[in-house]
Amino acid sequence: MNNELTLPQTPQIVTSLPGSRAQVLIERDQAVTSPSYTRGYPLVASRGQGCMIEDVDGNVFLDLTAGIAVTATGHGHPLVVEAIQNQAAQLLHMSGTDFYYAPMVELAEQLAERAPFPKPLDGTCARVFFTNSGTESVEGALKLARYYTRRPLVVAFLGGFHGRTYGAMSLTGSKVVQRQGFGPLLPGVTHIPYGTHASLDYLEEKLFPTVLPAEEVAAIVVEPIQGEGGYIVPEDGFLERIRSICDRYGILMIVDEVQSGMGRTGKLFAIEHWGIMPDIITLAKGIASGLPLGAILSRPELMTWPAGSHATTFGGNPVACAAAKVTLQLLEAGIIDNARKMGKQLFSGLTQLSLRFERVSPPRGKGLMVAIDLLDAEGNLDSQLRNHIVDKAFYQGLLLLGCGKAAIRFCPPLVIDSNQIQTALKIIAQILEISHEKCRNCPSTLG
Ligand SMILES: Cc1ncc(COP(=O)(O)O)c(C=O)c1O
Repeated sequence: MNNELTLPQTPQIVTSLPGSRAQVLIERDQAVTSPSYTRGYPLVASRGQGCMIEDVDGNVFLDLTAGIAVTATGHGHPLVVEAIQNQAAQLLHMSGTDFYYAPMVELAEQLAERAPFPKPLDGTCARVFFTNSGTESVEGALKLARYYTRRPLVVAFLGGFHGRTYGAMSLTGSKVVQRQGFGPLLPGVTHIPYGTHASLDYLEEKLFPTVLPAEEVAAIVVEPIQGEGGYIVPEDGFLERIRSICDRYGILMIVDEVQSGMGRTGKLFAIEHWGIMPDIITLAKGIASGLPLGAILSRPELMTWPAGSHATTFGGNPVACAAAKVTLQLLEAGIIDNARKMGKQLFSGLTQLSLRFERVSPPRGKGLMVAIDLLDAEGNLDSQLRNHIVDKAFYQGLLLLGCGKAAIRFCPPLVIDSNQIQTALKIIAQILEISHEKCRNCPSTLG
């Protein structure tokens, strides 16, 4: 494989979209794969380098999606690829459930050392359980919380997204299509609104004294910044208050960092922005730069479950662990700093955009986990306009993803540079300009 940066660093669209090769593959895909996949526009990726993706027809796109917030070190970082190749040649699989191997031990040590938990005086370190995905991390965290506390109930948040397997889906409160038709779900999950003190007042003053005995709650599961729900940053003091509620009632605080973790927000774990120590952290997505890997980190005293009580064949695969070790090294050697720096530039560019276009909300988020909402003429969320911009951007060579009701999320590879951010902002501004021109007199949705 050629690891040199041979792709242009700006979008180059050389065919109509989708091109002829893409068209053939899309038709074959549609005939054979599950219709539940949610492809917004017809990108058929062939090659990735840094922040650029080339499709099967030779069109080059600037990728602000990172494959749904995954490729932290950029597409195909040469050192990640090299580590994967070396480990693949050495040992592809042995199952960490039944056997030992170095990459899994080493990665566990590195994550345990960095986990934002109190350091016990006796020197015991945090514990790590490896999984294959975000949903499996959440599933395991939920099992761990119930096992440790011997309590059945869980509190989660409206707008939260935690995955698609039954436990994680039961915690998810994002879109009804993700739950409808799949019931019965896990009993004992109560959803409350996200991010506000009013919501926690409701939990403490209304729910706990009436229908939800606090002493039977095993965990409060919370994203430090809500991801799929719209890149929502909670009110000041919200996460701190969850910590104190948990302390008061012996509830575990599970922080789902599947999307916000691994440097995306400018710190290794987003929860570090608030200086709070959770009890359990779930990870996946960015942890191995694109290889399927997840992890559950817990305070040392919580993982009391005995041998055989929880396990997985593939979790902690040696190749994925090798990719994760280099990912962590690269993140700490400058990529997290870049996420912080570029995040500031992106935020200020989006602020300018919102000042220039009244249909664009001010941005929100941290680091390279940032979003804007698209609004109609009355200032209401306008999902049609959002979809229009995401769609048009694709045809201009810019890959974007929506989230929430009407938000565009910006979750690029954390290696994005200043020019690439400028390019992205310029393309979005052009689309907004044309849309405004065309629809100067439209009462609501542009397009
Ligand atoms: C916060 C959060 N938790 C869990 C998940 C589920 O991860 P996966 O799709 O790897 O199962 C996601 C995926 O978007 C997520 O954003």
